[in-house]
Amino acid sequence: MSATFAVTVEPTARVRGRVRPPGDKSISHRYAMLAAMADGPSTIHGYSTGQDCASTLRCLRALGVPIEVEQADPGGLRLEILGVQVGGFRRPIGPLDAGNSGSTMRMLAGFLAAHPFRCTLTGDDSLQRRPMRRIIVPLERMGARIAAEDGRPPLTMTGSAHLKAIEFVPDVPSAQVKSAVLFAGLHADGMTRVIEPTFTRDHTERALEAFGAQVERAGTAVAIRGGQRLIGGTFHVPGDISSAAFWMVAAAALPGSEIVIEHVGLNPSRTGVLDVLTRMGARVTPVTAHAQAGEPIGTITVQHGNPVPAEIEPSEVPGVIDELPVLAALATHGGGLTVSGAQELRVKESDRISALAEGLRAMGADVDERPDGFCVRGGRRLRGGEVDARNDHRLAMAFAVAALGATGPTVIHDAGAAAVSYPEFFSVLESLRA
Ligand code: S3P
Repeated sequence: MSATFAVTVEPTARVRGRVRPPGDKSISHRYAMLAAMADGPSTIHGYSTGQDCASTLRCLRALGVPIEVEQADPGGLRLEILGVQVGGFRRPIGPLDAGNSGSTMRMLAGFLAAHPFRCTLTGDDSLQRRPMRRIIVPLERMGARIAAEDGRPPLTMTGSAHLKAIEFVPDVPSAQVKSAVLFAGLHADGMTRVIEPTFTRDHTERALEAFGAQVERAGTAVAIRGGQRLIGGTFHVPGDISSAAFWMVAAAALPGSEIVIEHVGLNPSRTGVLDVLTRMGARVTPVTAHAQAGEPIGTITVQHGNPVPAEIEPSEVPGVIDELPVLAALATHGGGLTVSGAQELRVKESDRISALAEGLRAMGADVDERPDGFCVRGGRRLRGGEVDARNDHRLAMAFAVAALGATGPTVIHDAGAAAVSYPEFFSVLESLRA
């Protein structure tokens, strides 16, 4: 696998330039799955080039969905998907391999719960360590059967053509869990409702509406009536703000820097990172230009500003969960950062709290690891060194951004993991040195 190679990142004085980030990973998965379940053909522009979204396509094809992929669009791929209609998956011949992608496994399980055949969902070593009880419990209540050792993949599922609607209150705020239950609810008898402990990204709700389904929303509750059809169409995936965050942090960290992020998604459930960057001293200007399929899209300009120490409270964590590693990298350059209520980071592609603390310390940072977060003290220039990204894409890229402000070079092992969400990451990084 590509993930095993190492990259050496040299420091730079500043970064400058314009970047169009890859297609949003969260939205790409959802559009592909909903197009697969729709009536008629769909065209998806700007689909993520990352390996995780390729895993979704691999699984959908194994379920009998015809998909053509072309390298034709700026910012992503162009897909032609011929929908097989709600309930129309074919039993796969072998196990479905979700690779490194928790989103693929959890959200696809929602659809598979409604298909009356047995199949196995598996993934790489990292995915096989990730918790799945959070989807097993509600999908079993709806009528599916799911066998898993210790609540971890591989999952052996037998779906049911007669799912029951449920009202479900997840233990953890998770958009993947909410989506799995809503996708199963699309096939259930009656109204399925998810009441979240804290609001999470709402791409599923917006995408369902864009594919012609009705969802009811009230506060942190969202409900869907079963038996609705999805209608195929033409969809455009905005750029991924979580991938753009690496360049925003580089600009925020290095004096004299300015980066303009173009055609990026500005869904309010994902822009928490802009608030944190502003609190940490960066100059951040987002401009929304238009919306596509209910997703706001625009431009973000980020310039360096004087670093300020900041805190991220538990209620804010779901809105910045994927950006916490790179915000920790910014804290090493600047005023520091304290994060609490982020224990979910321990069950991501790696244990992101311990791996982050270990890597940043190896580069010379002053970091405390806590059970539910971390504290990075600022004001100490990194020296660089040798770090292990533990096969985790967001850690590989966060260490690279931290390395830009060090006094010496940094060798990042497993840097190839960046391809999970951003295959072009290291070439874009080189193009932004100024
Ligand atoms: C995602 C939700 C988040 C996030 C992940 C993508 C999604 O995970 O960390 O990268 O697309 O719904 P959880 O739902 O597990 O919090």
